Amino acid sequence: MADLEEKLKAAAGSRRKLIFTDGVFSMEGDIARLPEIVALAKRYDAIVAVDDSHATGVLGKTGRGTAEHFGLLGQVDIITSTLGKALGGAAGGFTAGPAALTDYLTQRSRPQLFSNALPPTVAGSALAAVRYIEAHPELIPRLHRNATYFREQLTALGFKPLAGETPIVPVMLGETAKAIEMSERLLAEGVFVTGFGYPVVPQGHARVRCQLSAAHSQHDMDFALRAFKKVGTRLGLI
Ligand SMILES: Cc1ncc(COP(=O)(O)O)c(C=O)c1O
Repeated sequence: MADLEEKLKAAAGSRRKLIFTDGVFSMEGDIARLPEIVALAKRYDAIVAVDDSHATGVLGKTGRGTAEHFGLLGQVDIITSTLGKALGGAAGGFTAGPAALTDYLTQRSRPQLFSNALPPTVAGSALAAVRYIEAHPELIPRLHRNATYFREQLTALGFKPLAGETPIVPVMLGETAKAIEMSERLLAEGVFVTGFGYPVVPQGHARVRCQLSAAHSQHDMDFALRAFKKVGTRLGLI
């Protein structure tokens, strides 16, 4: 936040100042400190934009994302997000903001102007996903119960998942080769988690990233935990 404030001060003479942040950061699963960001934006007359791709359908009582999580709905100027994560794994995304901005983007946004539109089937399924979440707010607490359970059980097994409040559960392994081997062995056991190494994450911070879903049953999670135990023991990690 101190660094952000320095940059806002340095931009004092600018015509427009835009703070752009992820709502939930994809590799650690940590949440942007939006209350502080919004306060700084107000103090320095900046616009706040949030890429909420990992928060839409995940954070907030009704899944509206990071702003809802912090009680800041209406105070974030621009929200961008994807239709491809909690909303069902399809393609596409959106920008939500003031009509003047969205009208402007309709005229000037390159993906809007020079790409084919979303296939109607994808738009239709994304719309159905939004309506489904609106009709089933109980999915959100279920998702968080699943994430909490999975984190706690991994820790009990001796793994070191990063602490956090989101369903992104990274298990730190250190070297890239180890993360790749772990993800391959888990896949052989029927569990799909992605191994990430440098340069996607800093050197020496390779990890497998688990992503929990409200659709995971107790049986699914226990199945995955048994596989983690088996593979982790074989690799000497636990
Ligand atoms: C923060 C963030 N924004 C956007 C994306 C990509 O979304 P899309 O595939 O819809 O471009 C990702 C990851 O895939 C992401 O982590």
